[in-house]
Amino acid sequence: MRLTVNIDHVATLREARGGMEPDPVAAAMQCELAGAEGIVCHLREDRRHINDRDLRLLRECVQTKLDLEMAPTDEIVRIAIETLPELATLVPERREELTTEGGLDVRGHKRTLRDVVTELQKHDIEVSMFVDPVREQIEACKEVGADKIEIHTGEYANARNEREQFGFLEEIIAAARLGKELGMGVNAGHGLNYRNIIPFRDIEEVDEVSIGHALISRAVFVGLDRAVKEMLDLLR
Ligand code: PXP
Repeated sequence: MRLTVNIDHVATLREARGGMEPDPVAAAMQCELAGAEGIVCHLREDRRHINDRDLRLLRECVQTKLDLEMAPTDEIVRIAIETLPELATLVPERREELTTEGGLDVRGHKRTLRDVVTELQKHDIEVSMFVDPVREQIEACKEVGADKIEIHTGEYANARNEREQFGFLEEIIAAARLGKELGMGVNAGHGLNYRNIIPFRDIEEVDEVSIGHALISRAVFVGLDRAVKEMLDLLR
């Protein structure tokens, strides 16, 4: 299972003072040196963490794979086409949310999303859809032509007890199987950490996990290099 690291939180810390430090681009380089197989960033409409300069430099510097999380809006689609990340992950976005709060409603917006997927693919950008582990949503991803799905693991991560967590895990496993049956790549992410990642080692249908908050938080104490390597050790 591959690990991609979301570096938005490094930019969030920088924005707390509005200066230059810490630089998410430098963080991305350290993550790659430590063995991360991809770098993820989310260019939000309000630029609250990653900004246009970061994305430009990330595109120049990232040598593994750049995964741009993005809302399917005209402005960000245009920027994606200028930037050419290897992967674009379409996510819902609401200004007032602290972080992405749930999967995209692909089923309810098939026509618009099909156009966005086609446009990005025309420029050789693979497209993934961040969706809840729900059959109808995953089937809709296939219908709109997505290359991959990213299963939203937020509910699993926020489960209040083991029983609830197990229930959400079953849903994730079923969703991952369905994604593969439909011929799509399967990623997973949101709220994954050094403990709740363990069961994922046995889900062979998940190709890749995207982890941000827990990894950057750990890096505050042990450094980014060790934080990435520890997660890689857990995944292998
Ligand atoms: N995947 C998607 C689509 C996300 O929006 C996020 C959060 O930015 C993540 C993965 C990573 O989540 P976390 O920061 O909780 O690890």
